[in-house]
Amino acid sequence: MKRLPYNSPVTVLALETSCDETAVAILRGNDSRYELPASEVASQVAAHEKYGGIVPEIASRNHLIYAPRLLDRAASAAKIAPSEIDVFAATSGPGLASSLMIGASIAKGLAIGLCKPYLGVNHLEGHLLSPFFNIEKGGGNDIKPHLSLIVSGGHTMLVLVRGLANYQLIGRTVDDAAGEAFDKVAKMLGLGYPGGPKIEKHARGGDPKRFDLPRSMLGSENFSFSGLKTAVRYLPKVAQWRLTQTPCNLDEEMLSDVCASFQQAIIDVLVAKTLAAAQKYRVNLVTVSGGVSCNQELRSQLREACRRKGIEFKSAEPWLCTDNAAMIAFAALLRFQAGFHSQLTGEIDPNLALV
Ligand code: KG4
Ligand code: ZN
Repeated sequence: MKRLPYNSPVTVLALETSCDETAVAILRGNDSRYELPASEVASQVAAHEKYGGIVPEIASRNHLIYAPRLLDRAASAAKIAPSEIDVFAATSGPGLASSLMIGASIAKGLAIGLCKPYLGVNHLEGHLLSPFFNIEKGGGNDIKPHLSLIVSGGHTMLVLVRGLANYQLIGRTVDDAAGEAFDKVAKMLGLGYPGGPKIEKHARGGDPKRFDLPRSMLGSENFSFSGLKTAVRYLPKVAQWRLTQTPCNLDEEMLSDVCASFQQAIIDVLVAKTLAAAQKYRVNLVTVSGGVSCNQELRSQLREACRRKGIEFKSAEPWLCTDNAAMIAFAALLRFQAGFHSQLTGEIDPNLALV
């Protein structure tokens, strides 16, 4: 592969189809500045909502419908000809096999057709690097050593980052991911999917101390959220509501208090473990990314906890927290400029590990 001089601008087109969002982005940049001429996301929430979760076959059928449309939209928004793209990238894992396959096949097809390189990107690396993606501040690709908390629907992990592609796993969930716990508890309360934003909305104004819910495994660097989910299920009023299925039994004040108590239990665990690891590994920067990091209460409590310990804190901008292709394009750009490349024969991997 021809290695571009570090400062030459590179144009990346990236697809993200690891789960239920179809996304395409075009990013152009060098080591210090970048611009995002196109970032398109087609949400499939409406298609999956009635099933209370993601149906893989529906997700892949929709990726097939949306991806070509988004590619067209992105190319015209960026006013760019396909031949001007330097590298085609796609999420290669982790995620749903039948969904990953679609984005990766399209990116590989474009790369082959246009004789350009292809880069497979780890979805988790996309999340991990997203707090460093800042178009308004004109870019800046310096990935400083730090502790990264990734909290999404499928993953909850603490990663010690020494630089690009130099990662050490500190802790991960042994059962449910934080986002999964939000989704399952929301479903249990009849709030629908995705649960995180719905629980956050109902938690506003609720009493986070009304219910004494467990904060599990505080002595460990790993996480566990399934006991918390079960504890919510067996709160007397919730159990009774679930038995009768009459929503009026769970009045708004009660619902607010359950949501606030549950949300605070998750935040307490995330903040305590992140701060403990930051001190143990002596980092002076903490970042948070992934869908759950849209949660304003989590962002502000983590920021405040870091401030009290004199640790710098960075979060991805809210639009970059949930799945999108801009973060995949950013990871691909950094990797491409650092000389990484992928084989066209490289396969997608639903269980692709970050470290
Ligand atoms: O990163 P993401 O879009 O997809 C995965 O890679 O999994 O994360 C989706 C998860 C869902 O579980 C969703 O409920 C959660 O992020 N989420 C939130 C909020 N917004 C999305 N969780 C808590 N509070 C939110 N405001
Ligand atoms: Zn994600």
